[in-house]
Amino acid sequence: MKITIFGTGYVGLVTGTCLADVGHDVMCMDVDADKIARLHKGEIPIYEPGLETMVTANVASGRLRFTTDPAEAVGHGELQFIAVGTPPDEDGSADLKYVLAVAKTIGEHMTEPKVIVDKSTVPVGTADRVHATVASTLAERGVYIDFDVCSNPEFLKEGAAIEDFSGGARIVVGTGSEHVKALMRECYGPYNRNHEKMMFMDVRAAELTKYAANAMLATKISFMNEIANLAERLGADVEQVRQGIGSDPRIGYHFIYPGCGYGGSCFPKDVQALARTASEVDYPADLLNAVESVNRRQKSTLFAKLNQAFDGDLAGKTIALWGLAFKPNTDDMRDAPSRDVMEALWAAGARVQAYDPEAMKECRRIYGERDDLVLVADRIQAVKGADALVICTEWKEFRILDFDWLKAQLAMPVVVDGRNLFPPKAVKDAGLMYYAVGRGDSL
Ligand code: UGA
Repeated sequence: MKITIFGTGYVGLVTGTCLADVGHDVMCMDVDADKIARLHKGEIPIYEPGLETMVTANVASGRLRFTTDPAEAVGHGELQFIAVGTPPDEDGSADLKYVLAVAKTIGEHMTEPKVIVDKSTVPVGTADRVHATVASTLAERGVYIDFDVCSNPEFLKEGAAIEDFSGGARIVVGTGSEHVKALMRECYGPYNRNHEKMMFMDVRAAELTKYAANAMLATKISFMNEIANLAERLGADVEQVRQGIGSDPRIGYHFIYPGCGYGGSCFPKDVQALARTASEVDYPADLLNAVESVNRRQKSTLFAKLNQAFDGDLAGKTIALWGLAFKPNTDDMRDAPSRDVMEALWAAGARVQAYDPEAMKECRRIYGERDDLVLVADRIQAVKGADALVICTEWKEFRILDFDWLKAQLAMPVVVDGRNLFPPKAVKDAGLMYYAVGRGDSL
């Protein structure tokens, strides 16, 4: 099939590359000429395991192409995927300017019937707005061409994007049209061989499914963080509680790891956008608002623990920080808990000596050169001459640690672990003060 993808960000680039990989003829369009020029040279704008090799192979086979030319892009695909960003507006609602700009572009250049596929995470009712935008653009041109708009939300996770796209649990398509159903079946056919994954539903149900899935996962995390905070105060170990409740299949082990708060480009933004949608229809979304506020509070706990360990006097101290990315296997620092810690430390007059396996360039891009931020080449250098250590991301390479060695490096024997990586007893036996999340006996 001929497929066009608008947007070469996470979702767009992964979708385009995976669809090309199973044999479709894919054209990816982006208004960012620099990004497209880099993609032409085989440079991938994001870090995602396996993606670069896959892009290179599919470009070489001719099945994956990139363009900045809207007419060429619209002319190419019978399916036109919209996979552009939906950044949060000031009030937390999703800003649809990029999505609607693509709808306008499609309307301006369409010369034959098309099926438009909303892939971006967009509020309920957006497919109708995309439909209206295309229809009015066609009307301005004085032409009538048949087209459909369907919703096809994406559930992939950063860091496991290719695996999730190919092996996801379901392929949700919101449409009432048999013609669209047939085309979407054909598009995803190669991913739908083992068992039936296509789930056809109403457009609005598909749009809400995406938000409900992310909000549910975020709720699990905030719930567990709340239990962890309680455990801390009650002298219980949340890791034992986690296993105790996860063993119930009705609860399950997934997404109940307590930590330093969820980050990334999706959960924080989507929970807020859904709460905003709720307020627009006069529904008081108490639970969603609580999920968000518990998360905000959780992100401040790492600094609070450091501050407590140093009796409120962090000025002039050097804090080693392991893990800048919002989670392992990505260089993404959007809404990362590390940012809350660093910014609070700087405000308190401390210096940060940080290491991350992938996100150092991104950190420099965000914060620039500054005296109180030193980025070092590995985790060992990060603790050299530091007063204390804080861990924000559970990268695999952080998991094995010689606690005696660490104790000898730090001026104050303080480890604040936002990811519960170590057995508290082993850390404490080395003479370190261990501040983990919800581990009653770590304090
Ligand atoms: C999330 C969803 O998991 C995907 O299904 C969805 O498609 C995606 O958002 C999206 O809407 O695009 P992602 O943001 O890439 O994916 O990352 P996750 O692996 O879900 O992690 C999100 C955050 O939750 C991270 O900060 C992670 O550290 C935190 N988390 C996750 C916890 O604190 N505890 C857990 O048990 C699990």
